Amino acid sequence: MRRINMESQIEEPKKYENILIEKYESVVGIAKLNRPNSLNALSAALMKELLDALNRFEADENIRCIIVTGGEKIFSAGADIKEMMKMSSIDALKAGNLDYFDQIQKVSKPIIAAISGYCLGGGLELAMACDILIAGENARFGQPEINIGVMPGAGGTQRLTRAVGKYKAMDLILTGRQISSKEAFEIGLLSRIVPDESVMIEAKRVALEIAAKSPLASGVAKDCVTKAFEMTLKDGLEFERKNFYLLLGSEDKEEGMKAFAEKRKAVFKGK
Ligand code: CAA
Repeated sequence: MRRINMESQIEEPKKYENILIEKYESVVGIAKLNRPNSLNALSAALMKELLDALNRFEADENIRCIIVTGGEKIFSAGADIKEMMKMSSIDALKAGNLDYFDQIQKVSKPIIAAISGYCLGGGLELAMACDILIAGENARFGQPEINIGVMPGAGGTQRLTRAVGKYKAMDLILTGRQISSKEAFEIGLLSRIVPDESVMIEAKRVALEIAAKSPLASGVAKDCVTKAFEMTLKDGLEFERKNFYLLLGSEDKEEGMKAFAEKRKAVFKGK
């Protein structure tokens, strides 16, 4: 059954129980984690819905940028501990719930994480699977899994280490301590810090800015930057160069360069 999302008055093709979705200015897709009673703990059901929503935004030609947020008070306190308590190793392996984080990274459109409040454990790992991290000045970050007898399992040991380096990552992962937005920004974990009340305003502003660029160029640029963490420098430079040549064949390149010469704003069609 189709239902109407009252918040944005757009038709929601699918009923979600753990997230809310919305479109902004027709070109930005917003997915909001919505389990306030458990601090947006990332249950398997929530992650499944989130991936479904992101894939729908991916398939929607009008959407050019995506925002993932937890709302004004909390991003996420991590994987659902109460759900994991009941799981054996084999149950977890078979369920494959942590694979969702990698699937999210495969979305080709740029994803902004708009972060307020706690961004811990799997919450931080979710944010790190996004592309631009915008946080409020009072947000809190950490990989506290060590405090409950485990360790990060959704990319924390890998993405955090690549983002901040071995020694900062070891500090956070082995002590489980929380850090402020200021410290997170200083170690390279955040793109921007803004006043708490401006997190969504800034995320939407940046999303619209990205949405006005060529979606071909932004998708390829995202792919190249992501691959920088997976390839040797030599292979990465070759990958970048070939993708640059590829973009030279696009209509968006014709339009962008013509608009520059004619001193007007380019209108990109993603062709
Ligand atoms: N999973 C399930 N429920 C959670 C949760 C989580 N990660 N975090 C909070 N909740 C629940 C609490 O159990 C509580 O529920 P009840 O009201 O039913 O008791 C509710 O959310 C509110 O939480 P608190 O009362 O604890 O709120 P607080 O303000 O006192 O503390 C907090 C906030 C510091 C974030 C604290 O909740 C906390 O430490 N949460 C756990 C953080 C954590 O360890 N995250 C890592 C999870 S493991 C992981 O993510 C593995 C991975 O890499 C994939």
